[in-house]
Amino acid sequence: MELFTAINQRQSCRNFLEEDIEKVMIEKIIEAGIMAPSPLNTQPWDFIVITSNSVKEQLCNGAEKCKEKAIETSGWKWLEKYSVQFLKTTPVIIVVTGDKTKSGVDIFNEDGPLAYQHACAAAIQNMLLASHALGFGSVWFTLFDKESVKELLNIDDNKVPLAFVCLGKPAKKSAKTARKPMAKKTLFID
Ligand SMILES: Cc1cc2nc3c(=O)[nH]c(=O)nc-3n(C[C@H](O)[C@H](O)[C@H](O)COP(=O)(O)O)c2cc1C
Repeated sequence: MELFTAINQRQSCRNFLEEDIEKVMIEKIIEAGIMAPSPLNTQPWDFIVITSNSVKEQLCNGAEKCKEKAIETSGWKWLEKYSVQFLKTTPVIIVVTGDKTKSGVDIFNEDGPLAYQHACAAAIQNMLLASHALGFGSVWFTLFDKESVKELLNIDDNKVPLAFVCLGKPAKKSAKTARKPMAKKTLFID
């Protein structure tokens, strides 16, 4: 698929068919992720591929708790209507972790290391585009408690779970989300 077609067509999918994904496809998607740029080429990402139903269920229960907490603290009523139950039936969940010891020169900045997260975000976007090009739906999911996920998946201390990339064949087409026009978001300084 042509790059700009993938960029323009990709959209988040939260409703998947219960159809397995071939391992070779999962590997292709991860390979796209690791082609992302990173500070000093530190490649701070690692990937945990979840197909176990019992682990998906535990991730889903964790997301439910996280959602309840977010509703309590934010008071956002709309969040009550948002369901995380699709995590249970998502064929593949790839947990992307970032190693905070593998950041760039930004480790000396007052905000501390952040560039490792930016690199992982670039990897995730590559994965979403690759998934779309291969005919899969995907969503970048972050409604989880990092410490609980670390404990559940036995993730090293220096690594932070940054996102779940949920993958599968889309069960239905989602509504396309709108974007503000470029002119409203761009300043050209000549
Ligand atoms: C950093 C980040 C975090 C996100 N977290 C979630 C999430 O927890 N749950 C979810 O359903 N979608 C999540 N999304 C997906 C966004 O809701 C989605 O990308 C946005 O609404 C635009 O829609 P589109 O992806 O269909 O273009 C996240 C996206 C990003 C980039």
